[in-house]
Amino acid sequence: MRPSPDCKLCDLHRGRTTIVLPDGNPSYGIVFVGEGPGEFEDLEGRPFVGRSGKILDNMMREAGFDRTKVMITNTVKCRPPNNRDPMPEEMAACRQFLESELYDARLIVGLGKSACRDLMGYEGPMSEIVNIPITIKVRDREIVFIPTYHPAATIYNKDSRAALQETMRVVAEWLK
Ligand code: URA
Repeated sequence: MRPSPDCKLCDLHRGRTTIVLPDGNPSYGIVFVGEGPGEFEDLEGRPFVGRSGKILDNMMREAGFDRTKVMITNTVKCRPPNNRDPMPEEMAACRQFLESELYDARLIVGLGKSACRDLMGYEGPMSEIVNIPITIKVRDREIVFIPTYHPAATIYNKDSRAALQETMRVVAEWLK
């Protein structure tokens, strides 16, 4: 299930240029969930094509895979104004689309706070949960979920960079 091109289920439609749909390959059953489209994603219609996307691509490459082996999506498909965090009602409006993207997954990687808030209901510091796998329910399915840092959070922070690199190593194992 995908949003219609003129989707108006939440107010994010007011500022969007393009709805940003998932990218990559669902057949390996691994889905990365980011926060929401930024400026470049909104223009191009693809997730993680800006600065965070370059970091993500580099870290995947370092771990020995690339985005053709995973699917990448976001909690919301339209850019929040000034890249603010998506609001709970915006994530709730987009939830039906996210659930259909996740339903067949074996492993979900939550990139940052918004993904963890949306999919785990978690509101605390990322450092408490990073790289500790849990199981989440997507409709009637139980799926392994790994919380980790958003690529943007790794730019000036060595520890979060190392933690996201560790997540990528784990994903590489799942791909074997
Ligand atoms: N940050 C995100 O969380 N998602 C994108 O698609 C781009 C940047």
